[in-house]
Amino acid sequence: MLSHDDNEKLVRVGAGTPMGDLFRLYWIPFYLSRDLTPDGQPKRVKLLGEDLVAFRDTAGRVGLVANACAHRGAPMMYGRNEDCGLRCVYHGWKYDVTGAVVDMPAEPVRSRMKERVRIKAYPCRERNGVVWTYMGPDAEAPALPNMEWNLVPEANVSLSMRIQECNWLQALEGEIDSAHAPLLHGRIDEKGSINDWVAKKDLRPTFECVRQDFGMSIAARRRFDDTTLYWRVNQFVMPFYSLVPPQSKYPELSGHAWVPMDDENTVCLMFSYHPAQELYPKTRALFENGHDGRETGHASRHAYAEKDASTPYADYWTKFSPATNYRFDYRSQETTWFSGLPGLWVQDAACQSGIAPVYDRTTENLCSSDTGIVMTRRFLLESLAAYRERGIRPQGVADPDVFMVRAVSLQLPEEERWADAGRIHMQARLGESFGYKL
Ligand code: FES
Ligand SMILES: [Fe+2]
Repeated sequence: MLSHDDNEKLVRVGAGTPMGDLFRLYWIPFYLSRDLTPDGQPKRVKLLGEDLVAFRDTAGRVGLVANACAHRGAPMMYGRNEDCGLRCVYHGWKYDVTGAVVDMPAEPVRSRMKERVRIKAYPCRERNGVVWTYMGPDAEAPALPNMEWNLVPEANVSLSMRIQECNWLQALEGEIDSAHAPLLHGRIDEKGSINDWVAKKDLRPTFECVRQDFGMSIAARRRFDDTTLYWRVNQFVMPFYSLVPPQSKYPELSGHAWVPMDDENTVCLMFSYHPAQELYPKTRALFENGHDGRETGHASRHAYAEKDASTPYADYWTKFSPATNYRFDYRSQETTWFSGLPGLWVQDAACQSGIAPVYDRTTENLCSSDTGIVMTRRFLLESLAAYRERGIRPQGVADPDVFMVRAVSLQLPEEERWADAGRIHMQARLGESFGYKL
């Protein structure tokens, strides 16, 4: 359980809130490159509670500007994206991707007002299919974080984005908790990959956590056989990432950036990648199309809902939401799913969204399998206090290599320590495969 005050510190993301200010120290992945076309319709974006518009200009550069025009506040989501800038339709002020005014068609030709006024704009960078922005306090943004999923060739990785209607921390806590996986994701009909998971052999894991420069390693220990233990080490990576290890037969590393749209909605960027080879076309197709109408870890192309372009993140809302009870079907608990919820990510999302978009953690009852969650909250609260009270920034803010980390799954003789045996495997080594048997 968490006190009301601590819960509030962790869940609020607006400017000036403790967590909101911490998030703003980091580059934030906020859109997929493929969904922004040159001179295409601007996309409405909401990020850390701020109302913004993203566009790709004629030259291919991405801009992220306030939705309110700097003149008299007309919505920039109605803007004309043309000739290397976004033009407000009210009086025609036009902005480039840096937020500079490049045209004021209704002003006298000699007016120098253009030089004085700017629209609020956040710098954007693109790398391997992901658009990042920096909303932070420093005039000079830090280096982009070196995260393996965003450094391997694009052929090695599958990316998807979807919106989840709950606070970012509920989503994060769902993925660093690996006790739920063989239960919530279980199948009754013995079909499907989940039934091959080694984790199913032992439903009562014990947990060990280790603090790291990047965040927290959360190791779940399960018995494999008389002499062997199976360790699954999930990683919490500051400020909002979770990394999940590969399963035997499913050699992808996966994870999420749980990017807060606002207090009550989260942009879930999922990545699955192989560190040293291209994804099999079959794997990619499974992620993109689902399996027989069912969802995998990624939102399939069938999952998305039609949304009016005036909705923030209109590209990424899905048909699976609290409004549709995530398409829960009680009868399928007898025939198909342990949960009655159709597909991997849907099961996670339904439980993480829970009973309210911002869960009141004063009413929870934590148990032994929640060790990783407790430790991660503590880590976050201490990081907040260090920054707010002493101005100390988390280590990764200034050191992009802190993020070069992998989640691991290891079968080890009982006497071997996972932290020692896993040390080398937990380092992301660009171009190098896992280095252990999955
Ligand atoms: S309000 Fe945008 S140009 Fe006037
Ligand atoms: Fe899950």
